[in-house]
Amino acid sequence: MTKSVQQGSIVSDAASVTDVVLAAMSRTENPRLKEILNALVEHGHAFLNQVKLSDDEYEQGLDFLRRVGLTCTDSHNEVVLLADVLGYSTLVKVLNNSMREDRTGGALLGPFFRDGSPHYELGASIVQEDTTATPIFVSGRVLNIRREPIQGARVDVWQASPIGLYENQDPDQPEMNLRGHFFTDANGDFHFRSLRPAGYPVPTHGPVGDLLRIQRRHPYRPAHLHFVVFAEGHDTLISQIFADDAEYLDSDVTFGVTRDLIGKFDRHEARSGPRPGQQAPYYTLHCEFLLAQGTPTRPVPPIK
Ligand SMILES: [Fe+2]
Repeated sequence: MTKSVQQGSIVSDAASVTDVVLAAMSRTENPRLKEILNALVEHGHAFLNQVKLSDDEYEQGLDFLRRVGLTCTDSHNEVVLLADVLGYSTLVKVLNNSMREDRTGGALLGPFFRDGSPHYELGASIVQEDTTATPIFVSGRVLNIRREPIQGARVDVWQASPIGLYENQDPDQPEMNLRGHFFTDANGDFHFRSLRPAGYPVPTHGPVGDLLRIQRRHPYRPAHLHFVVFAEGHDTLISQIFADDAEYLDSDVTFGVTRDLIGKFDRHEARSGPRPGQQAPYYTLHCEFLLAQGTPTRPVPPIK
C-alpha cells in the first residue's frame, strides 16, 4: 500500500476509516457544526469498534431507525420518544440548565406541546368539559434570579387528563382541553384551576415500544404538569412539576424527574383547607419559577 493511496477517501483497513471520513468533512465552514459532526463520527466509529456489529445486527439497527421515522405522524413524534427513553433528552437538559441553585431546572419539552393554546385570565379553569374528577388549584410565582417578581411573564401549561391522556390523543376530550396560557400579575403571580393529572404510558405502538419490551421496562411517566415560561430579557424556561405522591416517581421511563422538579401536591378533604367552599376533595400545588437573564425563545412544537 503506497502512501498516496492512503490519502483521500480510499480506505485501507478498519483503523483508517475514521480519519478518511473526518478528512472528507474537513471543509465544513461552521466551526461549531464541524466540532459536533466530527465528534459524532468519532464516537460512532468508537461504538462500532467496541461492539463489533455483525452485518445482520447493523441492518437491524438501520431498519429500527427507518421504522422510527415511519412511525412519526402529525400527532406523534417517535424520534423525540426515542431520545427520551435513551436518556439523551434529559442529559442535554441537565447539562444546559438543570440542577442549579440560582434558577429553576429545565425539563423535557415532551412530545405534546402545542402552539395556539387558549389565553385565560388569572384564576380561570383550563378544564373545558363537565367532570367529577378531582380538582387541583395551582398557584405560582415567576421571579428573576434576584428573586424579584416578573410581571407579564407568559406561563403556558399543558397536562394529561385524569385518565392519563392529552387532549390530542383522546377523541373524547374537547380541543385544547387542559391547555392554556396566562400572564403574571404585578407580583409575578399566576393561578388557575385544573384537574389532578394522572401518570401515563408513553406510546408503545412503534419501535420504541418494542425496545422497552425487549429491555423489560415499563412505559410509564409519573403524574406531572408541563410549563413553559417566557419573559422579556430572560431565558425561556421549559419545566415539568411532578406530583410528590405519584406512582413511578422514581422510575420515569423518560428519566425526566430531577429533585428540584418535584412539587408538593397537597390533598384537602371537602369543605376544609384553603378552599373550604369545595364540596369534594381537592389538591393544591404551589410552584416557583426562577428565570435566568437571557433572550426568550419559543420552543418548536414537536406536533401540530
Ligand atoms: Fe407529559
